[in-house]
Amino acid sequence: MKIFSHLFSSKKNLTIEEIKKNSIPKHVAIIMDGNGRWASKRGLPRLAGHREGVKPLKNVVRLCNDLGIKYITAYSFSNENWERPENEVSGLMQLFFETVAAEIEDLNKNGVRIVLIGNRNLIPQKVLKRFEDAENITKNNENVVLNIAFSYGSRQEIIEAVKKACIDIKNNKIDIKDIDEDYFSSLLFTRNCPDPDLLIRTSGEFRISNFLLWQIAYCELYFTKTLWPDFSNAEFLKAIWDYQQRNRRFGKI
Ligand code: IPE
Ligand code: IPE
Ligand code: MG
Repeated sequence: MKIFSHLFSSKKNLTIEEIKKNSIPKHVAIIMDGNGRWASKRGLPRLAGHREGVKPLKNVVRLCNDLGIKYITAYSFSNENWERPENEVSGLMQLFFETVAAEIEDLNKNGVRIVLIGNRNLIPQKVLKRFEDAENITKNNENVVLNIAFSYGSRQEIIEAVKKACIDIKNNKIDIKDIDEDYFSSLLFTRNCPDPDLLIRTSGEFRISNFLLWQIAYCELYFTKTLWPDFSNAEFLKAIWDYQQRNRRFGKI
């Protein structure tokens, strides 16, 4: 009977109310991939794909707010993405600069808190200032935390955490024997949120690309061929529904 109800549900468009009947993930992480291919398929410059990628993120934030998903981590620009051609990098910086300004009022009104996670030292001053202003404006919001992983690399984050731990040891703030998972997690950029329950990657790539390596130890993974600019509300709900069918055991039986 259960199998039958799965088949039935997967055939129709899911509604927010149906999704809300089952367990809602606290934290959803997304690798928003495929913007360049979306544009190339249309004979457009890659940046047109990045521009088109803003809308699905806005929709996801709104849906999370409606569903009661408290944390979103959106992979927007990786440490490795700095190695892309100069014109793509500068086009992306300009896009982030404009988008933060264009969206901040709405996000704030909807109770969304913006948090930038990543290596701030590499971000151009004027872009960083925009992000930091957005963080300040929204810092007391409590509906949804939107972590924007920007200039982000998980290995670099872990190395920075190790350095902080060394400093704590040197300053007698912690004893080596007291270093545990909670302490280590508290040194990461994501210190204020629970680990992700669900990680979505679009564009048909089956890899993690240096995203949240520590935090996804027991995360459920969802991959779709859809390119990020085409990622619809229905597909997001489907991903949550798919998550709800999983049996999370955390090593137990
Ligand atoms: C993801 O889309 C956005 C960023 C990495 C900034 P891509 O730009 O990686 O698009 P594809 O993977 O080349 O299609
Ligand atoms: C990961 O996508 C980074 C973001 C989505 C921001 P990439 O396109 O950079 O990853 P790879 O190169 O396919 O692994
Ligand atoms: Mg890509």
